[in-house]
Amino acid sequence: MDSLLMALIRERRSIRVFDTRPVEEEVLSLLLEAALRSPSSRGRNPWQFIVVRDPICLSALSEVKPHGAGFLAGAPLGIVILADPAQCDVWVEDTSIAATYIQLAAESLGLKSCWAQIRLRDDGQEGMATDVTREILSIPDRMEVASIIGVGYPAEEKKGHPKSDLDYSKVHYEKF
Ligand SMILES: Cc1cc2nc3c(=O)[nH]c(=O)nc-3n(C[C@H](O)[C@H](O)[C@H](O)COP(=O)(O)O)c2cc1C
Repeated sequence: MDSLLMALIRERRSIRVFDTRPVEEEVLSLLLEAALRSPSSRGRNPWQFIVVRDPICLSALSEVKPHGAGFLAGAPLGIVILADPAQCDVWVEDTSIAATYIQLAAESLGLKSCWAQIRLRDDGQEGMATDVTREILSIPDRMEVASIIGVGYPAEEKKGHPKSDLDYSKVHYEKF
């Protein structure tokens, strides 16, 4: 059995090296539409998204934590995903689903992406990556930053994980 979505899921990989080609406005609007269509607990939609295309700003964001955000400096687009925890107790789940929707929509449009984790990550200088991100992007204190999705046209190739790598021992039927 196959489907368009299954084909994308099979090919999907995290890509961290991007072409300089900008993400077109109409393509960006589809990514944002996908994010805003993502399901959320009780339909509260607690997320907010900040579109970052300024290379200086992306470069600053690439340094909010010591490891794992460096690729943002070479990405033409970063989508910062944040939420107001007062709006929903499961905002972490809601923002994660929105991130996944963005990543799969990107994949379907010929773009590639990678997730940079911000929530709970330290800044390498006894502070938190969230606070540094808040400062760079003028985010109010009540908002929590979940992640930044770096998106662009790929300048590296990776093959999808082969089916033989999938660990079906993690799947249980009826009981653990
Ligand atoms: C919750 C989460 C957090 C992640 N954080 C980072 C990160 O901070 N930096 C990074 O380069 N990749 C990050 N990734 C991407 C993973 O490293 C990647 O998905 C994993 O190594 C598997 O590789 P693949 O996506 O190519 O299959 C994150 C992925 C998830 C789902």
